[in-house]
Amino acid sequence: MKKSSKKGPGIRVILYSGKGGVGKTTVSAATAIRAAELGYKTILISTDQAHSLSDILEVELSGAPAEVVPGLRALEIDLDLELRNYWGEIQNYVSTFLRSQGFEELVAEEFAILPGLEELFSLLKLNQLVREKEYEVVIIDCAPTGNTIRMLSFPDVIRWYMEKFYPRDRMLFRLFRPLAEKISKVQLPNDQVINSAEILYREVQEAAKILTNPEAASVRLVTNPEKIVLRETERALTYLCLFGYAVDGVIVNRVLQDPEGSEALKSWQAVQNTYLERARSCFYPLPVLVQPLRFGEILGVPSLREVAHTLFGDKDPARVMFKGQPINIKQVNGGYTLSIKLPAARREEIELWRKGDELVLKFQGVKRNIFLPRTLASLSMAEAEFSEQTLRLSFQKEEDK
Ligand SMILES: Nc1ncnc2c1ncn2[C@@H]1O[C@H](COP(=O)(O)OP(=O)(O)O)[C@@H](O)[C@H]1O
Ligand SMILES: [Mg+2]
Repeated sequence: MKKSSKKGPGIRVILYSGKGGVGKTTVSAATAIRAAELGYKTILISTDQAHSLSDILEVELSGAPAEVVPGLRALEIDLDLELRNYWGEIQNYVSTFLRSQGFEELVAEEFAILPGLEELFSLLKLNQLVREKEYEVVIIDCAPTGNTIRMLSFPDVIRWYMEKFYPRDRMLFRLFRPLAEKISKVQLPNDQVINSAEILYREVQEAAKILTNPEAASVRLVTNPEKIVLRETERALTYLCLFGYAVDGVIVNRVLQDPEGSEALKSWQAVQNTYLERARSCFYPLPVLVQPLRFGEILGVPSLREVAHTLFGDKDPARVMFKGQPINIKQVNGGYTLSIKLPAARREEIELWRKGDELVLKFQGVKRNIFLPRTLASLSMAEAEFSEQTLRLSFQKEEDK
């Protein structure tokens, strides 16, 4: 198949997320190679500071794009470089601030590498690439799940802060700086720092706009057929839907496929099969792509090409694999409504119960676990309704019922 004709936003951003070690880098690299071979100008970005992209591709990488195969470039985000080149003023401010609070010089420098910076720079890098219009497909090999969710929630968090402290504080800073600096030893940010903060804010919001546009960006969850990994994937799916990001597929990696195997392997395979089934029902109606466990290392372009082939076959990996949100959470008069798409179910066959912070759904003999985010887990389920193939559950505070 040839690359799909491009309409709409004109760029495709695909993020691969999942627990550490599940195969994100491998699948990202495989997807990127395939996209480039279909003719897309592609860039592959590793945001995980435990970079392994370079090793997996067997190509030397840095903070600047380097060619992997014709049509594909890759880079590993270099926090130090990004920080020094673009956001030195903010870093200086943070160090100065910490010093004024009595921290030693060296500690202050180290503290300026704030948690969340990795995620922040990934968003900024994405923006830059979209603006430059040099690439048609951007593949992001994310840091482990927690960081991805933090990255994707960053725009909301920063907006909250800005709305709370801006522009009121900006005025305060300007009017009272000389006085305030005399009274307290605390150094206030200068205009340049404030300007940088404003630019930063705008850039993050722009990145959010791209990432929450389902035609432009898709998140794909990489997982393994194992209990703990799957549970984390279920949790990630709920959170991603909660923040309004479009998840368009799940990749179950390292599935044992060895019919000739020993008894021990066969029983392991049986266990894996139950988890694979669980994945198919939990993530339904998202497509679940399976990647077998390979006996041997996956290094270099030819073996990554094979991975892409088993995952996507002749299909275009840059296309949107699923449209719509499998889980949707909305705030309504004091409570929340959780909507779950169940295209194949009939009302009378749905069974539903709660188990701690999980919701268990059963229909047509399949059990589906849905992880409830903290905001919902503390509320009680007030009503359930099923129409237009969607199950809607309302959650309210105990006393409001
Ligand atoms: N399907 C597979 N079969 C065999 N080994 C795999 C498979 N997928 C990944 N690996 C290996 O597992 C290790 C971790 O994979 P990696 O893609 O780096 O995971 P992550 O980026 O999620 O941490 C690597 O050594 C990789 O070669
Ligand atoms: Mg990795």
